[in-house]
Amino acid sequence: MAGRLDGKVIIIAGAASRGAGVGTGKAMAILAAREGAKVTLVNRTAERAEALRQEIADEGGDAMVFAGDITQEEDAQAMVAATEARYGIVTGLVNNIGGGVNGTIVEVSEEDWDRVLQVNLKTAMQGTKAVVPALLRAGGGSIVNISSSVGWAGLMSDRGSAAYATAKAALHGLTHSTAANFANQNIRCNCIIVGTISTPMVAHLGEDALRRRVEMVPTQTEGTGWDIGYAAIYLLSDESRWVTAVNLPVDGGLDGLRTWPR
Ligand SMILES: NC(=O)c1ccc[n+]([C@@H]2O[C@H](COP(=O)([O-])OP(=O)(O)OC[C@H]3O[C@@H](n4cnc5c(N)ncnc54)[C@H](O)[C@@H]3O)[C@@H](O)[C@H]2O)c1
Repeated sequence: MAGRLDGKVIIIAGAASRGAGVGTGKAMAILAAREGAKVTLVNRTAERAEALRQEIADEGGDAMVFAGDITQEEDAQAMVAATEARYGIVTGLVNNIGGGVNGTIVEVSEEDWDRVLQVNLKTAMQGTKAVVPALLRAGGGSIVNISSSVGWAGLMSDRGSAAYATAKAALHGLTHSTAANFANQNIRCNCIIVGTISTPMVAHLGEDALRRRVEMVPTQTEGTGWDIGYAAIYLLSDESRWVTAVNLPVDGGLDGLRTWPR
């Protein structure tokens, strides 16, 4: 164990990748445990989270599973209460739950719109609302929201993604208002803007779309869940104690060099 997160207790909402491979939530859970944090693995269903808990335990790490639907206030509150009951305090939360649906604003159905805003935005609202009192009890802490180049830069998927772009853009407002409201109480809130990374979430896109995702990146390479995980570890640790209200693109230069297509 390297110890950069010794003494930290971190909740990762959406910790178990939806399929085989390593998503962002799974990567940051493994890395946080390796750095000495105790980790709560939150997922709608327990099975994959339990497999991840075992993987972490096999490496000598300490993690627990909380199964719940974080769009629901009672589940979000219970996620925090269960973590405090097990580990005594909470010092960090990652709002990692997300997913999109294709369609421009003209094409998207009201049902899909509502579902995508629930999954990406309401989970972050419920998680943040539930965790802030616990962070105050712990003397402060760090919240990390997981956004996307789609919401930040208007980067479009081939078929548009109006609901996803809107939900992710709203996370930047939540990040700034949380950072502003609690900065003087030692709670930081930052946002990682995830570029075109290879995870189980995008495996269904097909070879052509995945190739085009790489071609637009200045580095001409695809990122992974681990790249996002390392950025999250920094933001959850005391190394970033003076960093708040930041939107951090981890995207191979896509945003900084403005190479995304509209
Ligand atoms: N892969 C990419 O290219 C890419 C690009 C930009 C942004 N992102 C963002 O990165 C994150 C992806 O994380 P991942 O790779 O770990 O994704 P993932 O979908 O593999 O894992 C997220 C987990 O969250 C769980 N979940 C979904 N709804 C839930 C709910 N209501 N309550 C509790 N759990 C729920 C799912 O069961 C899933 O296991 C998302 O926020 C996504 O929008 C990904």
